[in-house]
Amino acid sequence: MNKCKENFIITTSEQETLNLAKKIAKLLKPGDVISASGELGTGKTCFVKGLAQGIGISQVVTSPSFVILKIYYNKIPLYHFDVYRLDKSFQLEEIGFQQFQYGDGITVVEWGDKVSEILAFDHLEINFYYYENDKRKIKITPHGESWEKRLNKSKFVKVTD
Ligand SMILES: Nc1ncnc2c1ncn2[C@@H]1O[C@H](COP(=O)(O)OP(=O)(O)OP(=O)(O)O)[C@@H](O)[C@H]1O
Ligand SMILES: [Mg+2]
Repeated sequence: MNKCKENFIITTSEQETLNLAKKIAKLLKPGDVISASGELGTGKTCFVKGLAQGIGISQVVTSPSFVILKIYYNKIPLYHFDVYRLDKSFQLEEIGFQQFQYGDGITVVEWGDKVSEILAFDHLEINFYYYENDKRKIKITPHGESWEKRLNKSKFVKVTD
């Protein structure tokens, strides 16, 4: 895993993206919100798999595209949303999104940029980009003091503007 600029990380395989997610999982606290965005197939679900493994979920995480939400029960539950098929943010609110994201679990939203206006102010934004072949460029942006502090304390990524 190479560090590239401040808040970009390049992974060269699915396994490296999983490993990055596992490291981020170590920083997670109940109530956290993560938005994962990027083109189809860039690794969002792969990243969520790593997060789930990192917080001790043994079930295999699969794409929730057809159901919008999958819940993984755990010491800290994981609420895995995929809003690719939603047209409007209010549709997400209708299924109780606010209660999930302000609850005590970890909320991850694939295609979170589509619903950014209803995301909690404090959240971690991850953007995935195709790079070369099996490489992905992953941009990590903290929103709010809590994530800024946690990322700056962590050893694997320093985030500065
Ligand atoms: N560096 C990498 N990181 C993550 N996935 C990679 C990488 N290189 C290749 N891949 C492959 O890219 C695919 C990523 O699929 P994944 O389902 O995680 O994408 P996604 O962004 O969730 O797609 P969708 O928008 O359809 O939900 C997998 O087939 C994985 O093996
Ligand atoms: Mg996906």
